[in-house]
Amino acid sequence: MDFIINHYEFGQRPSVTLPSPEFLEKLTEEGIRKMVSDHYDLLSHSEVKHLFPRIDEALDKAKQRSSDFFIQICGGHPYYNENRGKPLLAKRHSPFAITPKDRIVWLKCYISVLSKLDLPEELIQSFWDYLNVFSFWMVNTREES
Ligand code: HEM
Repeated sequence: MDFIINHYEFGQRPSVTLPSPEFLEKLTEEGIRKMVSDHYDLLSHSEVKHLFPRIDEALDKAKQRSSDFFIQICGGHPYYNENRGKPLLAKRHSPFAITPKDRIVWLKCYISVLSKLDLPEELIQSFWDYLNVFSFWMVNTREES
């Protein structure tokens, strides 16, 4: 497995390839929801915990929105469009100050979750490649000097 984290210049929005639909087919919706839940649980104890809801109910809603999104972009049911409308994710992240360092913490929490999945390596790789690139779109704040 190659969990590399690309370095991008601030303001870059690299083009993105969606994960293989087989990722969802093999992992199932339930598996995606568990993966996202585990990721949020790690985030809420990480260096970026200040960004995420502290109340359980709010955290559960965040988990649901995020799972809906990943199921949809992996070729599954369009839950996100139904529940929230167009993703426009960079815009939805704009109320939060997300730095390049925050992206790295967010991605490292995903490495930990993805490493534990019982799936063919190439499927995990395809999901990782998507996160590695698309996560840069959410960076909207320069590092403090
Ligand atoms: C590939 C990268 C990412 C994807 C696909 C993604 C996806 C999402 C989605 C679908 C939501 C819910 C939006 C809504 O409907 O309200 C969300 C919310 C949020 N994301 Fe991300 N995100 C990514 C990267 C990041 C990064 C790098 C950070 C910061 C470390 C971050 C922080 C947040 C925060 C603070 C929220 C609002 C709280 C919440 O509802 O979870 N995201 N993200």
